[in-house]
Amino acid sequence: MRSDLPITKEYIYFDNAATTLVPKPVIDTMIEYLVEYGANIERGAYSLAAKASEACEKARNNIARLLLHCDPEEFIFTRNQTQASNFVAYALEHPFLNRWSTGFKMAPPLVHWTPKSKIVTTVLEHHSNLLPWMRLAKHVKAEFVTIEPTPDGRLLPETFAKVVDENTEFVAFQQASNSMGTKHDVAAIVQAIKKANPNCFVFVDGAQGAGHLPVDVKAMGCDFYGFSGHKGPLGPPGTGGLYVQKDLLTRMSPEEIGGGTIAAVTAEDYMLRVDHRARRWDAGTPNIVGLIGLGRAVEYVHEIGIHRVEQRELALTKQLLDGLKDIPNMEIYGPTNDIDVKVGAVCFNLFDWQSHDVSLALDAKWRILTRAGHHCCQPLMHFLGIWNTYNGNVRASFHYFNLPSEVEVLIDALRQLTAG
Ligand SMILES: Cc1ncc(COP(=O)(O)O)c(C=O)c1O
Repeated sequence: MRSDLPITKEYIYFDNAATTLVPKPVIDTMIEYLVEYGANIERGAYSLAAKASEACEKARNNIARLLLHCDPEEFIFTRNQTQASNFVAYALEHPFLNRWSTGFKMAPPLVHWTPKSKIVTTVLEHHSNLLPWMRLAKHVKAEFVTIEPTPDGRLLPETFAKVVDENTEFVAFQQASNSMGTKHDVAAIVQAIKKANPNCFVFVDGAQGAGHLPVDVKAMGCDFYGFSGHKGPLGPPGTGGLYVQKDLLTRMSPEEIGGGTIAAVTAEDYMLRVDHRARRWDAGTPNIVGLIGLGRAVEYVHEIGIHRVEQRELALTKQLLDGLKDIPNMEIYGPTNDIDVKVGAVCFNLFDWQSHDVSLALDAKWRILTRAGHHCCQPLMHFLGIWNTYNGNVRASFHYFNLPSEVEVLIDALRQLTAG
């Protein structure tokens, strides 16, 4: 895999939680589309348009079946995880408008919001899985409740069971944390939520899960699952996706409409497409290159094997945590001994150092690329009490291509930095 990622020859790339490097075979597939059959999809009658449409069809099938384990008709292609959250927030706020035989009609809304309604999420969330729900709560005048994780960054089913009640209409939480490196038992949490209120909708933010951990949206039992294509799945920037449980798709309003979303249009009204409901969200020409690239990337991860990816990342995490144990003057966020609840990300700070300065030093002297700051999790930084002291934390995050020897370089570098 390293020969597919030339950057790894020069740098130690430990910023996979922000975005991963794109392997050459994925790039080749995108170039092939642009050079050899770069036509628009769907409505073209000629052969190249048909070839492009088929390539997109194949990509959708790969992503749905290999990455998420859902029906391709339940997969909406998005720009990133953030857009997935926003698509759902829009649909929860706006009732579905469509033509029913004689003209426009409004469908009953997904949720009948009342002043007692509650939206629940957690303090661990990335802003992308927080702000859309915060704004939704303001618009529909619902109560907005945030659950606290354990001090070492775990989300527990029993905490959700205590908070969710008959007024809770919607819960959003993450599969894994980008700022603590913890993973959560999604199926058990969804079960606890649905037991407390079977009518409550559940959204899972899989940005740090997809492509790193096995994902089976049906086994998870969630209603929505959003992810980024440019992180774990090794796809290009500008790609991501949203799984929506099939029955809900028919009742959801797409945020954008226009070409590509419809079955028929008159001068007065329109009927949205029924052949493939998820494509009601494909307003205008989609990011064809990105979709084809993501489809190939998902195949690439599948060829490696998702369990091997997970195991490799955990081995590197364990190695790093073990190596940091005897380094003084630093603190680590997230569990340090319980590897079963970890993903391939380790977050830390060095005493008396701003997090950004550590990251700059690691790059300048060792060419180790880490990310520093709040990681778009400001509420969590306040919860941990590290905002004023360190301006966030430093994160080293892995993928399958990272090596034990690279982790050794990081351990040695941190030993030198903390020794002054
Ligand atoms: C947990 C989590 N959720 C959501 C996002 C947002 O992803 P994107 O920038 O692809 O929309 C990120 C990005 O780092 C993340 O780590």
